[in-house]
Amino acid sequence: MTYGLENLVADIRQTLNDSPEGQGSSDICQYVERALGDDTFISTHFGADKTRPRHIIHEDPDFGFCVCVHIYHDAKNGDPHDHGPSWAVYGQAEGVTEMTHWRIVKPAEGDNPALVEQVETLVMQPGMAHFYKVGDVHAPNRSGKVMLLRIEGANLDNIKRSKIKPVAASAA
Ligand SMILES: [Fe+2]
Repeated sequence: MTYGLENLVADIRQTLNDSPEGQGSSDICQYVERALGDDTFISTHFGADKTRPRHIIHEDPDFGFCVCVHIYHDAKNGDPHDHGPSWAVYGQAEGVTEMTHWRIVKPAEGDNPALVEQVETLVMQPGMAHFYKVGDVHAPNRSGKVMLLRIEGANLDNIKRSKIKPVAASAA
């Protein structure tokens, strides 16, 4: 039996409906991994019609979460960031993302950004998903083309990230 977008959306809706805030993250990761393992899901949603780096393929009218297809062709080292007040799931559909995780060593104060240092690296291979709760700081690095299936707790087009800066390399 295939696992389509309608199944993914229904499962996430059910979990968000049933789980207290912040719970259910491992369930949502499992749904994303199930979608990533479904050839029909991938061929349907990661086809040649996806000509932009970011496509929202579902924005939920009740819960506000978004299912997004991201396709990046070039290598890039991202800056450490959070997603403001939103959680997010990164799902690796193709290629490899080296996701670095960071901890806040000094919180933001006034106009000064929060200072962060790197604590670990998660190598995301195709089929893997990872949940970032509100405030989790991370930076995606890629050495070539990657395709991602992402779930955002809220549409990140409308959300401002927190001000974050790595501490000096010598101190990291
Ligand atoms: Fe992110």
